[in-house]
Amino acid sequence: MAVANLTMSPAQFESLRKVVYKRSGIYFQDSKKYVLESRLSRRLEELGFSNFDEYLMFLTTGPYQTDEFQEMFNRITINETSFFRNEPQLEVFEKQVLSKLLEARKSKKQLRIWSSASSTGEEPYTLAIQLHRSLGVRLSDWNIEILGTDISQKALETAQSGKYASYSIRSMNPLILKRYFTEEDGFFKLDPTIMSMVRFELLNLKDAYAAKRFGTWDVIFCRNVMIYFDDAMKTHCVKMFHDQLADDGTLFIGHSESLRNIPVPFEPMPIPQAFSYMKKAGA
Ligand SMILES: C[S@@+](CC[C@H](N)C(=O)[O-])C[C@H]1O[C@@H](n2cnc3c(N)ncnc32)[C@H](O)[C@@H]1O
Repeated sequence: MAVANLTMSPAQFESLRKVVYKRSGIYFQDSKKYVLESRLSRRLEELGFSNFDEYLMFLTTGPYQTDEFQEMFNRITINETSFFRNEPQLEVFEKQVLSKLLEARKSKKQLRIWSSASSTGEEPYTLAIQLHRSLGVRLSDWNIEILGTDISQKALETAQSGKYASYSIRSMNPLILKRYFTEEDGFFKLDPTIMSMVRFELLNLKDAYAAKRFGTWDVIFCRNVMIYFDDAMKTHCVKMFHDQLADDGTLFIGHSESLRNIPVPFEPMPIPQAFSYMKKAGA
């Protein structure tokens, strides 16, 4: 049954965007009011509310706040992603960054990679496929940890199913697709070996203390999420990544994102398609 969109007044939009920003760092521009309106209308209907004031009250007071914030983030986040998204950048990861790190860690044989806004899993699974291809039979000698985190529990559930629609695999090399997926009832099921290389956890990037418990990373991916943040939240995230990155580690960001105006001691890799950063020496 179609749901009629409930209208959100300018004052209700202002209150809701403040609450969302405070909790997650996601900042809804004026032009994105319709996103909140359209995505939350069904939720209001499910809860039996007739206007956004009632919803705001439910969200910010009373016993169900934590659950409702989770439900809201499941609905308002943009989870767009795909396997091998931005291939030229991933090639830099595999050929330049990964190969150097595998050499640098060859005695310890331990590597830790964090996909910090992993959505439905395509990004960390892509990195796992790249590692599987790079290491081949040597993979079993290594202790490789790939963590995918996201604020959306629903996105993480899809990730853990390892089952994808054709939209997710649209830009994959057919040979890689054939090697790592099985087609079943119109869906593409990821190889269990690749699935076993990735672990998923719920994590809000606003929560630096929660992120800290995961320790230090050799590579951090934070792609296509900072576009939803303002400079204060970007600074918070980039500082957190700086604190949690190994001295010779690399941070990858999205191709339409930039760390200009962000006062954290990182320097860009001098390769145009890399969109990646390393710590400034001595910082
Ligand atoms: C557009 S997807 C990007 C997925 C993937 N990194 C890529 O580039 O293909 C953005 C993801 O960021 C997540 N996100 C938004 N705000 C977040 C926050 N404060 N903490 C953690 N994840 C967040 C969303 O739930 C969404 O899954």
